[in-house]
Amino acid sequence: MISENRIYQPYYTKSEPIVKYMVSLLKLSGSEKILEPCAGDGVFLDPIIKNFSNVQIDAFELNENSYSNLLVKYSDRENIKVKKTDTLTDAGLQFLCSMGGGYDAVIANPPYGAWRDHGERKKLKKSYNGFYAKESYSLFLYRCTEALNENGRLSFIIPDTYLNLHMHKHIRKYILTHTKIKEMALFPSSYFPGVNFGYANLSIIALEKCSDYKSNLENEFTIIKGFNSVEELGNNNIETLKRIKLKQKDVLQTTDYSFITNGNKSLVDCINSTQLKIGDICDCVTGFYSGNDKEYLKVKNKTIRNSKNYDLVKLDLVEFNCSSNIVNGITNDKEYVPIVKGGNRKYYKPDDWFMLWSEGKVAFYKADKKARYQNSAYYFRKGIGVPMVSSSSITAALIENRLFDQSIVGIFPKDESLLYYLLAFFNSPTANKLIRTINSSTNNSSNYIKKVPFTKPSDKLIQDINKRIEIILNEYKSTGLFSHELEEQNNKDIKKLYGF
Ligand SMILES: C[S@@+](CC[C@H](N)C(=O)[O-])C[C@H]1O[C@@H](n2cnc3c(N)ncnc32)[C@H](O)[C@@H]1O
Repeated sequence: MISENRIYQPYYTKSEPIVKYMVSLLKLSGSEKILEPCAGDGVFLDPIIKNFSNVQIDAFELNENSYSNLLVKYSDRENIKVKKTDTLTDAGLQFLCSMGGGYDAVIANPPYGAWRDHGERKKLKKSYNGFYAKESYSLFLYRCTEALNENGRLSFIIPDTYLNLHMHKHIRKYILTHTKIKEMALFPSSYFPGVNFGYANLSIIALEKCSDYKSNLENEFTIIKGFNSVEELGNNNIETLKRIKLKQKDVLQTTDYSFITNGNKSLVDCINSTQLKIGDICDCVTGFYSGNDKEYLKVKNKTIRNSKNYDLVKLDLVEFNCSSNIVNGITNDKEYVPIVKGGNRKYYKPDDWFMLWSEGKVAFYKADKKARYQNSAYYFRKGIGVPMVSSSSITAALIENRLFDQSIVGIFPKDESLLYYLLAFFNSPTANKLIRTINSSTNNSSNYIKKVPFTKPSDKLIQDINKRIEIILNEYKSTGLFSHELEEQNNKDIKKLYGF
């Protein structure tokens, strides 16, 4: 049974500063026709009708209870029409959009990630031109922008993930080409009372619909961040706020039309103008999952982190001498292979974990629905593993002829002589800044890693870094420690190469 909360996502905007700021962005004069596409208990409508008692409002709401409450609440107001409907599939609204829109203003806190069954999602994806239908808020943003009249204004509070996640590429392009963005405020989701969305940040976006493509591209807008409290929203005189000015055409020129909200110019220029990317010089792939690690994954000893639920391996049954000719399983009398797992550790992860890898078992992994026997051409090869989820800084460790699991992005340089250089690079602050700018969350999927600019190092630099990495690896393998001085030298050289 799917809970009502997952279907309706009824997180109400119980914050006066947020509501006040969002309403102010509509710049209402009182003669507008307004749409509230997911009205909830009418939190945006009340301050609007307080100032403009005769303004025309359509309030849509899908939830039966909320709808009934709205009907009662606004029963004496002829200018507020409450409708029980699904905004995303409402035929009347769809028709209005096809005619070029009909509202002068839209204000909303749409549901984020509201649950829809698979069939419905498929239908939505189809009717929304292939937009990513799993995350409903972007569909609301699209439909409501369409619903605006020319020069109509929209004010939305939504997660900030539409700014640079790959899956929201289409909505970015649509906004950049069909509207003039007025401003975006970025702030922590903790400003939103009472709920933890699991999203890192929220944003309030204000935009104006405009059919003049050229003038849209020339439009400059401001991203405001660095708020110290929710009360600072809309208070544009505060000096400590960080303002980033961007032109829409510059955003449209970036890879995937990403809004780069990090102000460092040389970094942004590097991302936008790079000729070569990691994806051009390396294969970046995710690794293996057995489908039932409790059963097939073994651990070296119980002092290893998170080893509690795993059985100990018999070390004499481990094949340490692995190469790609055992991708289909071990053919001698050994049974296990070492596997590199997630976890933030630089340069080298010792052989702590082992996967059952007999021929029979591998045949089973290939056929099993839960297992992920994927990208096997890269198993037991020389590469670099970057965990999918990292702590504050990205870390990279050598895979070196071992299996790697699905919590890791395996980076396999096409030219193996770059292996140690790239190991140093992916552990450097320079790479960290680049990845965090391309995608501000701590998720490092292979898609983002592929987009990291690659600036070709000189042969001399490769040689220098190779020597230092060799020492670091030897030290680390024998003592568990490494020379931070050598690491610093690598970081300095890489910083010099990239300029940041
Ligand atoms: C996040 S709440 C926001 C409510 C209110 N606007 C506020 O900010 O307090 C989202 C509301 O949209 C309603 N809703 C969810 N999916 C909807 C849909 N597809 N069409 C219309 N309303 C929907 C929910 O029932 C809920 O009341």
